Amino acid sequence: MTAVQESTPVALPARRGGPNARTLREDRWWLQPLVTISVLSAFVIYVTWAAFQNKNYYVGAFPYHRDLLSPLYSPCIAASCVAGASHHVQLSWWNFSPALLVLIIPGGFRLTCYYYRRSYYRAFWGSPSACAVQDSHPRYSGETRFPLLLQNSHRYFFYLALIVNVVLTYDAILAFDMPGIGIGVSVGTLVLVVNAVLLWLYSLSCHACRHLCGGHVRKFSEHPVRQRLWKLITPLNARHMQIAWVSLIFVALTDVYVRLVASGAITDYKLL
Ligand code: FES
Repeated sequence: MTAVQESTPVALPARRGGPNARTLREDRWWLQPLVTISVLSAFVIYVTWAAFQNKNYYVGAFPYHRDLLSPLYSPCIAASCVAGASHHVQLSWWNFSPALLVLIIPGGFRLTCYYYRRSYYRAFWGSPSACAVQDSHPRYSGETRFPLLLQNSHRYFFYLALIVNVVLTYDAILAFDMPGIGIGVSVGTLVLVVNAVLLWLYSLSCHACRHLCGGHVRKFSEHPVRQRLWKLITPLNARHMQIAWVSLIFVALTDVYVRLVASGAITDYKLL
């Protein structure tokens, strides 16, 4: 005998989440959007300030320190780059802070990230703020129109971000070398290495990366290499949210560290 399930009739609301109450949830659903707003706002304010400083982003190697370059200014390809920080390519027409040029790629990559999109749509636009919470906007057109249509550029930012990762890895390798003294490790070396590793993890855990590895494949049995890559990427992809936050905060901390050493506020202690 089949059990008859009773259902409660529901009137469709004018806006998602219900017409009368903002939500019936009694838990602290507002905490996650609040943390997102706080951390992202603090990050954007700090990075904007640091990008306009146009100084204290590079610690010259000889004679005191290892070669340390802030990730906010790397690759340093503007004519205004300080001596030693430049990455051999120089755009002579750019005379403003190099960071304003550099940050287009990592900034675009983060801004269009599927995870961040979900977070900031919810936190800043209340669209909706959380599950079972009323949408702050009566209408929702998704990402079907300009300017949100541009979010589809994410996969291209992914390719460009890989190039930036290669450069930051190169910077981290350079931080092992000190002319006249040789190979060694300082706190700054470790900071640059950890930062590069986190950025690689962030890029490799990207949904576009997972799709690149295993997308559009009907039978994995016919594509063993792609299947292996997809299996490798999938556990990372499952942690994309955590990696996104940790790598974001560490980028800012790396700049803070290099800035403090470059300004003479602290010493980059030699470990090995
Ligand atoms: S989905 Fe987050 S970086 Fe691609």
